[in-house]
Amino acid sequence: MESHEYDVVIVGGGGAGLRAAIELGESFPKLRIAVVSKVYPMRSHTVAAEGGAAAVIKSNDSLENHCHDTVSGSDWLGDQDVIETFVKEAPDELIRMEHWGCPWSREPNGQVAVRPFGGMVIERTWFAADKTGFHMLHTLYQTALKFQSLKWYDEWFVTKLLVDNGRCQGVAAIELLTGQLHAILGKAVILCTGGAGRLFPFTTNGAIKTGDGMFLAYQAGVALKDMEFVQYHPTGLPGSGILITEAARGEGGILTNKDGYRYLQDYGLGPPEPFRKRAMELGPRDRLSQAFVQEEAKGRTISTPFGSAVYLDLRHLGEATINKKLPFVRELSKNYAGIDPVYKPIPVRPVIHYVMGGVDTDVEGATVVPGLYAAGECACISLNGANRLGSNSLTELLVFGRRAAHAAAQFAAENPALASEKLKAQASDEQERIASQFIRKQGGNERVATLRLELNRLMEAGAGIYRSGDGLQKACSGIAALKDRFRNVALDDRSLSYNTELISVLELEFLLDIGQSLLHSALCRTESRGSHQRTDHTARDDQKFLKHSMAYRTDAEPRIEYKDVVITRWPPKERVYGK
Ligand code: FUM
Repeated sequence: MESHEYDVVIVGGGGAGLRAAIELGESFPKLRIAVVSKVYPMRSHTVAAEGGAAAVIKSNDSLENHCHDTVSGSDWLGDQDVIETFVKEAPDELIRMEHWGCPWSREPNGQVAVRPFGGMVIERTWFAADKTGFHMLHTLYQTALKFQSLKWYDEWFVTKLLVDNGRCQGVAAIELLTGQLHAILGKAVILCTGGAGRLFPFTTNGAIKTGDGMFLAYQAGVALKDMEFVQYHPTGLPGSGILITEAARGEGGILTNKDGYRYLQDYGLGPPEPFRKRAMELGPRDRLSQAFVQEEAKGRTISTPFGSAVYLDLRHLGEATINKKLPFVRELSKNYAGIDPVYKPIPVRPVIHYVMGGVDTDVEGATVVPGLYAAGECACISLNGANRLGSNSLTELLVFGRRAAHAAAQFAAENPALASEKLKAQASDEQERIASQFIRKQGGNERVATLRLELNRLMEAGAGIYRSGDGLQKACSGIAALKDRFRNVALDDRSLSYNTELISVLELEFLLDIGQSLLHSALCRTESRGSHQRTDHTARDDQKFLKHSMAYRTDAEPRIEYKDVVITRWPPKERVYGK
Protein backbone atom coordinates (compact mmCIF):
# COMPACT_ATOMS: atom_id res chain seq x y z
CA MET A 1 0.00 0.00 0.00
CA GLU A 2 1.59 3.22 -1.13
CA SER A 3 0.81 6.30 0.90
CA HIS A 4 1.35 10.03 0.50
CA GLU A 5 1.10 12.81 3.07
CA TYR A 6 -0.20 16.36 2.60
CA ASP A 7 -1.52 19.18 4.66
CA VAL A 8 -4.75 19.52 2.70
CA VAL A 9 -6.31 17.10 0.23
CA ILE A 10 -8.80 18.54 -2.26
CA VAL A 11 -11.08 16.03 -3.96
CA GLY A 12 -12.28 17.38 -7.31
CA GLY A 13 -10.61 19.55 -9.93
CA GLY A 14 -13.58 21.62 -11.11
CA GLY A 15 -14.37 25.22 -10.26
CA ALA A 16 -14.66 24.84 -6.48
CA GLY A 17 -11.63 22.54 -6.19
CA LEU A 18 -9.42 24.80 -8.29
CA ARG A 19 -10.57 27.94 -6.47
CA ALA A 20 -9.71 26.24 -3.16
CA ALA A 21 -6.35 25.12 -4.59
CA ILE A 22 -5.46 28.66 -5.70
CA GLU A 23 -6.34 30.07 -2.30
CA LEU A 24 -4.15 27.51 -0.57
CA GLY A 25 -1.30 28.04 -3.04
CA GLU A 26 -1.48 31.80 -2.73
CA SER A 27 -2.25 32.40 0.95
CA PHE A 28 -0.62 29.33 2.50
CA PRO A 29 2.46 28.69 0.32
CA LYS A 30 4.15 26.47 2.92
CA LEU A 31 1.32 23.94 2.90
CA ARG A 32 1.56 20.86 0.69
CA ILE A 33 -1.67 20.33 -1.20
CA ALA A 34 -2.99 17.37 -3.18
CA VAL A 35 -5.68 17.88 -5.82
CA VAL A 36 -7.27 14.50 -6.56
CA SER A 37 -9.61 14.39 -9.55
CA LYS A 38 -11.24 11.50 -11.38
CA VAL A 39 -10.82 13.37 -14.67
CA TYR A 40 -8.28 15.89 -15.96
CA PRO A 41 -9.37 19.19 -14.39
CA MET A 42 -10.37 20.76 -17.70
CA ARG A 43 -12.87 17.94 -18.19
CA SER A 44 -14.69 18.81 -14.97
CA HIS A 45 -18.32 19.72 -15.42
CA THR A 46 -17.78 23.42 -14.69
CA VAL A 47 -16.53 23.55 -18.27
CA ALA A 48 -20.09 22.98 -19.50
CA ALA A 49 -21.59 26.02 -17.77
CA GLU A 50 -22.77 28.52 -20.33
CA GLY A 51 -24.79 31.54 -19.27
CA GLY A 52 -22.78 33.33 -16.59
CA ALA A 53 -21.97 34.14 -12.98
CA ALA A 54 -23.97 36.55 -10.80
CA ALA A 55 -22.52 39.43 -8.76
CA VAL A 56 -23.56 43.02 -8.17
CA ILE A 57 -21.36 45.38 -10.21
CA LYS A 58 -23.59 48.09 -11.74
CA SER A 59 -24.65 51.23 -9.90
CA ASN A 60 -28.34 50.55 -10.61
CA ASP A 61 -28.13 47.27 -8.67
CA SER A 62 -27.60 46.61 -4.95
CA LEU A 63 -26.51 43.88 -2.57
CA GLU A 64 -29.99 44.10 -1.08
CA ASN A 65 -31.50 43.25 -4.49
CA HIS A 66 -29.25 40.26 -4.97
CA CYS A 67 -30.00 39.00 -1.45
CA HIS A 68 -33.74 39.40 -1.87
CA ASP A 69 -33.79 37.70 -5.29
CA THR A 70 -31.85 34.76 -3.88
CA VAL A 71 -34.03 34.47 -0.75
CA SER A 72 -37.28 34.50 -2.70
CA GLY A 73 -35.79 32.29 -5.44
CA SER A 74 -34.98 29.76 -2.70
CA ASP A 75 -38.64 29.87 -1.58
CA TRP A 76 -37.29 31.06 1.79
CA LEU A 77 -35.32 27.86 2.38
CA GLY A 78 -31.91 29.50 1.86
CA ASP A 79 -30.04 30.45 5.05
CA GLN A 80 -30.00 34.23 4.98
CA ASP A 81 -26.68 34.61 6.78
CA VAL A 82 -25.11 32.47 4.04
CA ILE A 83 -26.88 34.46 1.32
CA GLU A 84 -25.64 37.77 2.75
CA THR A 85 -22.06 36.50 2.93
CA PHE A 86 -22.26 35.18 -0.61
CA VAL A 87 -23.69 38.36 -2.10
CA LYS A 88 -21.12 40.55 -0.31
CA GLU A 89 -18.11 38.50 -1.43
CA ALA A 90 -19.33 37.76 -4.97
CA PRO A 91 -18.14 40.94 -6.76
CA ASP A 92 -14.57 40.62 -5.46
CA GLU A 93 -14.40 37.04 -6.66
CA LEU A 94 -15.45 37.94 -10.21
CA ILE A 95 -13.05 40.89 -10.31
CA ARG A 96 -10.29 38.54 -9.14
CA MET A 97 -11.18 36.23 -12.03
CA GLU A 98 -10.76 39.22 -14.35
CA HIS A 99 -7.27 39.81 -12.94
CA TRP A 100 -6.40 36.17 -13.51
CA GLY A 101 -7.40 36.55 -17.16
CA CYS A 102 -11.07 35.57 -17.43
CA PRO A 103 -12.29 37.19 -20.68
CA TRP A 104 -15.59 38.65 -19.45
CA SER A 105 -17.70 40.09 -22.28
CA ARG A 106 -17.66 43.92 -22.30
CA GLU A 107 -19.94 46.84 -23.05
CA PRO A 108 -18.87 49.11 -25.94
CA ASN A 109 -17.43 51.50 -23.30
CA GLY A 110 -15.16 48.77 -21.96
CA GLN A 111 -17.09 48.04 -18.78
CA VAL A 112 -17.93 44.47 -17.87
CA ALA A 113 -21.25 43.51 -19.47
CA VAL A 114 -24.05 41.89 -17.48
CA ARG A 115 -27.18 40.13 -18.74
CA PRO A 116 -30.56 39.41 -17.16
CA PHE A 117 -31.18 35.93 -15.73
CA GLY A 118 -34.28 34.25 -14.36
CA GLY A 119 -35.77 35.37 -11.06
CA MET A 120 -33.62 38.49 -10.79
CA VAL A 121 -34.98 42.05 -10.65
CA ILE A 122 -32.07 43.44 -12.60
CA GLU A 123 -29.31 42.24 -14.89
CA ARG A 124 -26.29 41.12 -12.85
CA THR A 125 -24.97 38.04 -14.64
CA TRP A 126 -21.40 38.42 -15.88
CA PHE A 127 -20.64 36.29 -18.91
CA ALA A 128 -18.05 35.29 -21.48
CA ALA A 129 -20.37 35.00 -24.50
CA ASP A 130 -22.17 31.73 -23.79
CA LYS A 131 -19.11 29.69 -22.84
CA THR A 132 -18.66 31.18 -19.38
CA GLY A 133 -17.84 27.92 -17.59
CA PHE A 134 -15.22 27.02 -20.18
CA HIS A 135 -13.47 30.37 -19.76
CA MET A 136 -13.75 30.34 -15.98
CA LEU A 137 -12.35 26.83 -15.69
CA HIS A 138 -9.48 27.69 -18.03
CA THR A 139 -8.71 30.78 -15.98
CA LEU A 140 -8.73 28.86 -12.72
CA TYR A 141 -6.68 25.96 -14.06
CA GLN A 142 -3.98 28.09 -15.66
CA THR A 143 -3.76 30.14 -12.45
CA ALA A 144 -3.56 27.07 -10.22
CA LEU A 145 -0.80 25.52 -12.34
CA LYS A 146 1.71 28.15 -11.26
CA PHE A 147 1.75 27.01 -7.60
CA GLN A 148 4.53 24.55 -6.88
CA SER A 149 2.88 23.48 -3.63
CA LEU A 150 0.06 21.78 -5.52
CA LYS A 151 0.47 18.13 -6.47
CA TRP A 152 -1.94 16.91 -9.13
CA TYR A 153 -3.52 13.48 -8.96
CA ASP A 154 -5.39 13.52 -12.28
CA GLU A 155 -7.49 10.45 -13.07
CA TRP A 156 -7.56 9.14 -9.51
CA PHE A 157 -10.88 8.00 -8.08
CA VAL A 158 -11.59 8.43 -4.37
CA THR A 159 -13.51 5.51 -2.89
CA LYS A 160 -13.49 6.30 0.83
CA LEU A 161 -12.64 8.92 3.40
CA LEU A 162 -10.08 7.86 5.99
CA VAL A 163 -11.44 8.78 9.41
CA ASP A 164 -9.69 8.02 12.67
CA ASN A 165 -10.89 8.99 16.12
CA GLY A 166 -13.77 10.89 14.55
CA ARG A 167 -11.45 13.10 12.45
CA CYS A 168 -11.09 12.97 8.67
CA GLN A 169 -7.42 12.51 7.77
CA GLY A 170 -7.29 11.63 4.11
CA VAL A 171 -8.76 9.50 1.35
CA ALA A 172 -8.36 6.10 -0.24
CA ALA A 173 -8.03 6.56 -4.00
CA ILE A 174 -7.54 4.33 -7.03
CA GLU A 175 -5.01 5.42 -9.63
CA LEU A 176 -6.92 4.67 -12.83
CA LEU A 177 -3.75 4.02 -14.84
CA THR A 178 -2.52 1.20 -12.62
CA GLY A 179 -5.66 0.20 -10.73
CA GLN A 180 -3.69 0.44 -7.49
CA LEU A 181 -5.30 1.93 -4.42
CA HIS A 182 -3.25 4.44 -2.42
CA ALA A 183 -3.73 6.20 0.90
CA ILE A 184 -3.55 9.97 0.38
CA LEU A 185 -3.36 11.39 3.87
CA GLY A 186 -4.16 14.97 4.77
CA LYS A 187 -4.72 16.98 7.92
CA ALA A 188 -7.87 18.30 6.26
CA VAL A 189 -9.92 17.20 3.26
CA ILE A 190 -12.12 19.40 1.05
CA LEU A 191 -14.78 17.72 -1.10
CA CYS A 192 -15.48 19.58 -4.36
CA THR A 193 -16.88 16.79 -6.49
CA GLY A 194 -19.96 18.45 -8.01
CA GLY A 195 -23.55 17.26 -8.15
CA ALA A 196 -25.46 14.06 -8.76
CA GLY A 197 -27.53 14.75 -11.88
CA ARG A 198 -26.70 11.29 -13.17
CA LEU A 199 -29.26 9.89 -10.76
CA PHE A 200 -31.74 10.81 -13.50
CA PRO A 201 -31.94 9.63 -17.12
CA PHE A 202 -32.35 13.02 -18.78
CA THR A 203 -29.83 15.57 -17.60
CA THR A 204 -27.51 18.34 -18.69
CA ASN A 205 -24.89 16.81 -16.38
CA GLY A 206 -21.78 15.09 -17.66
CA ALA A 207 -21.39 11.36 -16.98
CA ILE A 208 -18.95 12.14 -14.17
CA LYS A 209 -21.57 13.78 -11.94
CA THR A 210 -22.37 10.79 -9.78
CA GLY A 211 -22.51 12.41 -6.35
CA ASP A 212 -19.15 11.03 -5.23
CA GLY A 213 -18.40 13.59 -2.49
CA MET A 214 -21.98 13.44 -1.25
CA PHE A 215 -21.69 9.71 -0.74
CA LEU A 216 -18.25 9.90 0.88
CA ALA A 217 -19.44 12.41 3.47
CA TYR A 218 -22.76 10.58 3.99
CA GLN A 219 -20.89 7.34 4.63
CA ALA A 220 -18.67 9.15 7.15
CA GLY A 221 -21.71 10.29 9.15
CA VAL A 222 -22.44 13.73 7.71
CA ALA A 223 -26.09 14.48 6.89
CA LEU A 224 -27.15 15.11 3.31
CA LYS A 225 -29.23 18.26 3.56
CA ASP A 226 -32.28 19.25 1.47
CA MET A 227 -31.74 16.43 -1.02
CA GLU A 228 -35.35 16.50 -2.21
CA PHE A 229 -34.71 19.78 -4.01
CA VAL A 230 -33.57 19.00 -7.54
CA GLN A 231 -33.59 21.59 -10.29
CA TYR A 232 -35.02 21.06 -13.75
CA HIS A 233 -33.65 23.61 -16.20
CA PRO A 234 -36.55 24.61 -18.50
CA THR A 235 -34.62 24.47 -21.76
CA GLY A 236 -32.73 21.31 -22.68
CA LEU A 237 -32.55 19.76 -26.13
CA PRO A 238 -34.90 16.75 -26.32
CA GLY A 239 -32.99 13.48 -26.57
CA SER A 240 -29.51 14.58 -25.60
CA GLY A 241 -30.42 16.89 -22.68
CA ILE A 242 -27.83 19.39 -23.89
CA LEU A 243 -28.32 22.73 -22.17
CA ILE A 244 -29.67 25.67 -24.13
CA THR A 245 -28.61 28.40 -21.78
CA GLU A 246 -30.97 30.69 -19.90
CA ALA A 247 -28.91 33.45 -21.48
CA ALA A 248 -30.95 32.81 -24.63
CA ARG A 249 -34.00 34.06 -22.71
CA GLY A 250 -31.93 36.71 -20.97
CA GLU A 251 -31.09 38.11 -24.40
CA GLY A 252 -34.80 38.16 -25.33
CA GLY A 253 -35.71 34.62 -26.46
CA ILE A 254 -39.35 33.62 -25.93
CA LEU A 255 -41.08 30.31 -25.16
CA THR A 256 -44.14 29.34 -27.21
CA ASN A 257 -46.42 26.32 -27.34
CA LYS A 258 -47.56 24.41 -30.42
CA ASP A 259 -49.89 27.29 -31.35
CA GLY A 260 -47.14 29.91 -31.17
CA TYR A 261 -48.65 31.22 -27.92
CA ARG A 262 -46.48 32.50 -25.06
CA TYR A 263 -48.04 30.10 -22.59
CA LEU A 264 -46.17 31.29 -19.48
CA GLN A 265 -48.71 34.11 -19.13
CA ASP A 266 -51.23 31.44 -18.10
CA TYR A 267 -49.11 30.36 -15.12
CA GLY A 268 -48.78 33.52 -13.06
CA LEU A 269 -45.68 34.68 -14.91
CA GLY A 270 -47.19 37.21 -17.33
CA PRO A 271 -48.53 39.24 -19.07
CA PRO A 272 -45.83 39.36 -21.75
CA GLU A 273 -46.03 43.12 -22.24
CA PRO A 274 -44.77 45.45 -20.96
CA PHE A 275 -41.47 43.61 -20.56
CA ARG A 276 -40.45 43.08 -16.92
CA LYS A 277 -37.68 41.21 -15.17
CA ARG A 278 -38.75 38.25 -12.96
CA ALA A 279 -41.62 37.68 -15.40
CA MET A 280 -42.50 35.36 -18.28
CA GLU A 281 -39.33 33.74 -19.71
CA LEU A 282 -37.27 35.42 -16.96
CA GLY A 283 -39.22 33.79 -14.16
CA PRO A 284 -37.45 31.26 -11.92
CA ARG A 285 -36.61 27.79 -13.22
CA ASP A 286 -38.92 25.83 -10.94
CA ARG A 287 -41.97 27.80 -12.07
CA LEU A 288 -41.06 27.53 -15.76
CA SER A 289 -40.53 23.77 -15.57
CA GLN A 290 -43.81 23.29 -13.71
CA ALA A 291 -45.60 25.37 -16.35
CA PHE A 292 -44.24 23.05 -19.04
CA VAL A 293 -45.75 19.98 -17.37
CA GLN A 294 -49.13 21.69 -17.09
CA GLU A 295 -49.00 22.82 -20.69
CA GLU A 296 -48.18 19.27 -21.72
CA ALA A 297 -51.17 17.98 -19.75
CA LYS A 298 -53.39 20.38 -21.73
CA GLY A 299 -52.07 18.89 -24.98
CA ARG A 300 -50.51 22.17 -26.06
CA THR A 301 -46.90 21.03 -26.48
CA ILE A 302 -45.31 19.67 -29.64
CA SER A 303 -44.29 16.03 -30.13
CA THR A 304 -40.71 15.10 -30.90
CA PRO A 305 -39.14 11.65 -31.21
CA PHE A 306 -37.78 12.29 -27.70
CA GLY A 307 -40.97 13.40 -25.95
CA SER A 308 -42.96 16.60 -25.70
CA ALA A 309 -41.35 19.98 -26.19
CA VAL A 310 -42.09 23.67 -26.54
CA TYR A 311 -40.35 26.17 -28.76
CA LEU A 312 -37.60 28.57 -27.76
CA ASP A 313 -37.77 31.28 -30.38
CA LEU A 314 -34.73 33.51 -30.96
CA ARG A 315 -35.42 34.55 -34.52
CA HIS A 316 -36.37 38.12 -33.64
CA LEU A 317 -32.91 38.67 -32.07
CA GLY A 318 -31.30 38.51 -35.50
CA GLU A 319 -28.19 36.76 -36.74
CA ALA A 320 -25.72 39.41 -35.54
CA THR A 321 -26.88 39.27 -31.91
CA ILE A 322 -27.09 35.48 -31.92
CA ASN A 323 -23.56 35.24 -33.30
CA LYS A 324 -22.18 37.74 -30.82
CA LYS A 325 -24.01 36.82 -27.62
CA LEU A 326 -25.15 33.23 -28.19
CA PRO A 327 -22.72 31.59 -30.62
CA PHE A 328 -22.66 28.32 -28.68
CA VAL A 329 -26.46 28.12 -28.62
CA ARG A 330 -26.39 28.36 -32.40
CA GLU A 331 -23.63 25.75 -32.68
CA LEU A 332 -25.34 23.29 -30.31
CA SER A 333 -28.76 23.69 -31.92
CA LYS A 334 -27.35 23.15 -35.39
CA ASN A 335 -25.20 20.18 -34.43
CA TYR A 336 -27.51 18.37 -32.02
CA ALA A 337 -31.04 19.34 -33.12
CA GLY A 338 -30.49 20.17 -36.79
CA ILE A 339 -32.02 23.61 -36.18
CA ASP A 340 -30.44 26.96 -36.95
CA PRO A 341 -32.06 29.33 -34.42
CA VAL A 342 -31.52 32.27 -36.75
CA TYR A 343 -34.24 30.78 -38.97
CA LYS A 344 -36.26 28.34 -36.82
CA PRO A 345 -37.34 28.01 -33.18
CA ILE A 346 -35.52 25.39 -31.09
CA PRO A 347 -37.55 22.54 -29.51
CA VAL A 348 -36.75 22.40 -25.77
CA ARG A 349 -38.01 20.64 -22.64
CA PRO A 350 -37.14 20.65 -18.93
CA VAL A 351 -34.04 18.69 -18.01
CA ILE A 352 -32.37 17.79 -14.70
CA HIS A 353 -29.65 20.36 -14.15
CA TYR A 354 -28.64 20.85 -10.53
CA VAL A 355 -29.02 19.34 -7.07
CA MET A 356 -29.71 22.02 -4.48
CA GLY A 357 -29.09 19.57 -1.63
CA GLY A 358 -25.79 18.04 -0.63
CA VAL A 359 -23.24 17.70 2.15
CA ASP A 360 -24.38 19.70 5.17
CA THR A 361 -21.81 22.42 5.88
CA ASP A 362 -21.60 25.72 7.68
CA VAL A 363 -20.67 28.98 5.98
CA GLU A 364 -16.95 28.04 6.11
CA GLY A 365 -17.64 24.75 4.35
CA ALA A 366 -17.04 22.78 7.57
CA THR A 367 -18.99 19.57 8.18
CA VAL A 368 -19.68 17.97 11.56
CA VAL A 369 -16.72 15.63 11.00
CA PRO A 370 -13.62 17.55 12.10
CA GLY A 371 -11.19 18.01 9.22
CA LEU A 372 -13.84 17.48 6.52
CA TYR A 373 -15.01 20.39 4.35
CA ALA A 374 -17.11 20.69 1.20
CA ALA A 375 -17.78 23.38 -1.41
CA GLY A 376 -19.53 23.79 -4.75
CA GLU A 377 -22.49 21.72 -5.91
CA CYS A 378 -21.62 18.72 -3.72
CA ALA A 379 -22.08 20.91 -0.64
CA CYS A 380 -25.33 22.22 0.74
CA ILE A 381 -24.21 25.39 2.40
CA SER A 382 -27.86 26.50 2.13
CA LEU A 383 -27.39 29.26 -0.40
CA ASN A 384 -29.93 27.90 -2.86
CA GLY A 385 -32.69 26.51 -0.66
CA ALA A 386 -35.58 25.02 -2.61
CA ASN A 387 -34.65 26.54 -5.98
CA ARG A 388 -31.34 27.96 -7.19
CA LEU A 389 -31.29 31.09 -9.32
CA GLY A 390 -29.42 30.64 -12.59
CA SER A 391 -25.86 32.04 -12.48
CA ASN A 392 -25.54 31.95 -8.68
CA SER A 393 -23.70 28.63 -8.78
CA LEU A 394 -20.59 29.65 -10.73
CA THR A 395 -20.09 32.43 -8.22
CA GLU A 396 -20.92 30.07 -5.34
CA LEU A 397 -18.05 27.77 -6.16
CA LEU A 398 -15.62 30.70 -6.07
CA VAL A 399 -16.87 32.30 -2.86
CA PHE A 400 -17.19 29.07 -0.92
CA GLY A 401 -14.22 27.28 -2.53
CA ARG A 402 -12.06 30.09 -1.15
CA ARG A 403 -13.70 30.07 2.28
CA ALA A 404 -13.40 26.29 2.64
CA ALA A 405 -9.70 26.52 1.74
CA HIS A 406 -9.13 29.04 4.53
CA ALA A 407 -10.94 27.01 7.12
CA ALA A 408 -9.20 23.79 6.06
CA ALA A 409 -5.75 25.45 6.18
CA GLN A 410 -6.41 26.71 9.67
CA PHE A 411 -7.64 23.30 10.81
CA ALA A 412 -4.55 21.65 9.33
CA ALA A 413 -2.28 24.08 11.21
CA GLU A 414 -4.03 23.36 14.50
CA ASN A 415 -4.13 19.57 14.00
CA PRO A 416 -0.73 18.55 12.65
CA ALA A 417 -0.71 14.90 13.80
CA LEU A 418 -1.89 12.10 11.51
CA ALA A 419 -2.63 8.55 12.64
CA SER A 420 -0.67 7.36 9.61
CA GLU A 421 -0.43 3.64 10.37
CA LYS A 422 -4.09 3.28 11.25
CA LEU A 423 -5.11 5.23 8.15
CA LYS A 424 -2.95 3.07 5.89
CA ALA A 425 -4.52 -0.02 7.45
CA GLN A 426 -7.95 1.40 6.64
CA ALA A 427 -6.89 1.98 3.05
CA SER A 428 -5.67 -1.64 2.85
CA ASP A 429 -9.04 -2.82 4.10
CA GLU A 430 -10.70 -0.71 1.42
CA GLN A 431 -8.48 -2.24 -1.26
CA GLU A 432 -9.48 -5.70 -0.05
CA ARG A 433 -13.18 -4.74 0.03
CA ILE A 434 -13.07 -3.63 -3.61
CA ALA A 435 -11.11 -6.67 -4.71
CA SER A 436 -13.34 -9.18 -2.95
CA GLN A 437 -16.65 -7.43 -3.69
CA PHE A 438 -15.99 -6.73 -7.37
CA ILE A 439 -12.69 -7.87 -8.90
CA ARG A 440 -12.31 -11.41 -7.52
CA LYS A 441 -15.99 -12.06 -6.94
CA GLN A 442 -17.38 -15.25 -8.46
CA GLY A 443 -21.01 -15.53 -9.57
CA GLY A 444 -23.47 -12.67 -9.60
CA ASN A 445 -25.95 -12.04 -12.39
CA GLU A 446 -26.75 -8.33 -12.22
CA ARG A 447 -25.23 -5.88 -14.74
CA VAL A 448 -24.11 -2.38 -13.81
CA ALA A 449 -25.80 -0.78 -16.83
CA THR A 450 -29.14 -2.48 -16.15
CA LEU A 451 -29.25 -1.42 -12.51
CA ARG A 452 -28.21 2.12 -13.37
CA LEU A 453 -30.94 2.41 -16.01
CA GLU A 454 -33.55 1.09 -13.62
CA LEU A 455 -32.36 3.55 -10.97
CA ASN A 456 -32.62 6.42 -13.47
CA ARG A 457 -36.14 5.46 -14.49
CA LEU A 458 -37.26 5.01 -10.91
CA MET A 459 -35.93 8.44 -9.90
CA GLU A 460 -37.65 10.17 -12.79
CA ALA A 461 -40.96 8.38 -12.17
CA GLY A 462 -40.94 8.99 -8.42
CA ALA A 463 -39.15 12.30 -7.98
CA GLY A 464 -39.71 14.31 -11.15
CA ILE A 465 -41.13 17.83 -11.43
CA TYR A 466 -44.34 16.76 -9.64
CA ARG A 467 -44.31 14.12 -6.91
CA SER A 468 -46.93 12.31 -4.83
CA GLY A 469 -46.79 10.32 -1.61
CA ASP A 470 -47.77 7.12 -3.43
CA GLY A 471 -45.19 7.64 -6.17
CA LEU A 472 -42.45 8.39 -3.68
CA GLN A 473 -43.36 5.41 -1.51
CA LYS A 474 -43.15 3.19 -4.57
CA ALA A 475 -39.77 4.66 -5.52
CA CYS A 476 -38.48 4.14 -1.96
CA SER A 477 -39.43 0.45 -2.13
CA GLY A 478 -37.95 0.22 -5.62
CA ILE A 479 -34.60 1.63 -4.59
CA ALA A 480 -34.41 -0.71 -1.59
CA ALA A 481 -34.93 -3.60 -4.02
CA LEU A 482 -32.22 -2.24 -6.33
CA LYS A 483 -29.82 -2.04 -3.39
CA ASP A 484 -30.51 -5.69 -2.66
CA ARG A 485 -29.88 -6.61 -6.27
CA PHE A 486 -26.66 -4.60 -6.25
CA ARG A 487 -25.19 -7.26 -3.94
CA ASN A 488 -25.41 -9.59 -6.91
CA VAL A 489 -23.65 -7.36 -9.39
CA ALA A 490 -20.89 -8.88 -11.52
CA LEU A 491 -18.21 -7.27 -13.65
CA ASP A 492 -17.03 -8.48 -17.04
CA ASP A 493 -13.77 -6.60 -16.76
CA ARG A 494 -11.44 -7.80 -14.00
CA SER A 495 -8.37 -5.98 -15.25
CA LEU A 496 -6.56 -3.26 -13.36
CA SER A 497 -5.60 -0.55 -15.81
CA TYR A 498 -8.39 1.91 -16.67
CA ASN A 499 -11.10 -0.46 -15.52
CA THR A 500 -14.01 1.83 -16.29
CA GLU A 501 -16.50 -0.87 -15.38
CA LEU A 502 -15.09 -0.95 -11.88
CA ILE A 503 -15.42 2.83 -11.60
CA SER A 504 -19.01 2.58 -12.89
CA VAL A 505 -19.95 0.03 -10.26
CA LEU A 506 -18.46 2.18 -7.50
CA GLU A 507 -20.34 5.21 -8.84
CA LEU A 508 -23.54 3.17 -8.93
CA GLU A 509 -23.01 2.21 -5.30
CA PHE A 510 -22.77 5.92 -4.48
CA LEU A 511 -25.83 6.82 -6.55
CA LEU A 512 -28.03 4.18 -4.92
CA ASP A 513 -27.39 5.58 -1.47
CA ILE A 514 -27.75 9.20 -2.52
CA GLY A 515 -30.91 8.46 -4.47
CA GLN A 516 -32.36 6.81 -1.39
CA SER A 517 -31.63 9.88 0.74
CA LEU A 518 -33.35 12.05 -1.89
CA LEU A 519 -36.48 9.91 -2.09
CA HIS A 520 -36.91 9.60 1.66
CA SER A 521 -36.37 13.32 2.20
CA ALA A 522 -39.00 14.01 -0.47
CA LEU A 523 -41.46 11.51 1.02
CA CYS A 524 -41.21 13.10 4.46
CA ARG A 525 -41.66 16.68 3.20
CA THR A 526 -45.43 16.84 2.98
CA GLU A 527 -45.62 20.33 1.49
CA SER A 528 -44.80 22.03 -1.83
CA ARG A 529 -41.89 24.45 -1.95
CA GLY A 530 -39.72 25.54 -4.86
CA SER A 531 -38.64 22.57 -6.93
CA HIS A 532 -40.39 20.10 -4.58
CA GLN A 533 -44.01 20.02 -5.72
CA ARG A 534 -46.32 17.46 -4.11
CA THR A 535 -49.63 16.81 -5.86
CA ASP A 536 -50.99 15.56 -2.53
CA HIS A 537 -49.71 18.51 -0.46
CA THR A 538 -49.92 21.50 -2.76
CA ALA A 539 -49.31 24.36 -0.28
CA ARG A 540 -46.10 25.61 1.30
CA ASP A 541 -46.23 24.85 5.02
CA ASP A 542 -43.92 27.22 6.90
CA GLN A 543 -45.32 26.11 10.22
CA LYS A 544 -43.95 22.61 9.79
CA PHE A 545 -41.39 22.81 7.00
CA LEU A 546 -39.50 26.08 7.16
CA LYS A 547 -36.69 23.66 7.90
CA HIS A 548 -33.83 21.86 6.22
CA SER A 549 -34.17 18.10 5.78
CA MET A 550 -31.21 16.21 7.19
CA ALA A 551 -30.81 12.65 5.88
CA TYR A 552 -28.52 10.40 7.92
CA ARG A 553 -27.25 7.09 6.62
CA THR A 554 -28.19 3.97 8.57
CA ASP A 555 -27.91 0.25 7.86
CA ALA A 556 -31.54 0.35 6.71
CA GLU A 557 -33.41 3.39 5.39
CA PRO A 558 -32.07 6.91 5.90
CA ARG A 559 -33.13 8.68 9.08
CA ILE A 560 -34.67 12.09 8.31
CA GLU A 561 -34.32 14.91 10.84
CA TYR A 562 -34.83 18.67 10.51
CA LYS A 563 -32.80 21.79 11.17
CA ASP A 564 -34.03 25.39 11.36
CA VAL A 565 -33.55 27.78 8.46
CA VAL A 566 -31.64 30.97 9.34
CA ILE A 567 -33.81 34.06 8.78
CA THR A 568 -32.07 37.42 9.21
CA ARG A 569 -33.82 40.27 7.37
CA TRP A 570 -36.40 38.72 5.07
CA PRO A 571 -39.29 37.01 6.90
CA PRO A 572 -41.16 34.44 4.81
CA LYS A 573 -43.82 35.75 2.47
CA GLU A 574 -45.56 34.73 -0.70
CA ARG A 575 -43.29 34.22 -3.67
CA VAL A 576 -44.60 36.46 -6.41
CA TYR A 577 -43.38 36.75 -10.01
CA GLY A 578 -44.87 38.29 -13.12
CA LYS A 579 -46.39 41.35 -11.43
O1 FUM B 1 -28.65 28.36 -18.42
C1 FUM B 1 -27.52 28.43 -17.97
O2 FUM B 1 -26.62 29.01 -18.56
C2 FUM B 1 -27.25 27.83 -16.66
C3 FUM B 1 -26.71 28.54 -15.70
C4 FUM B 1 -26.73 28.07 -14.32
O3 FUM B 1 -27.22 26.96 -14.07
O4 FUM B 1 -26.28 28.79 -13.43
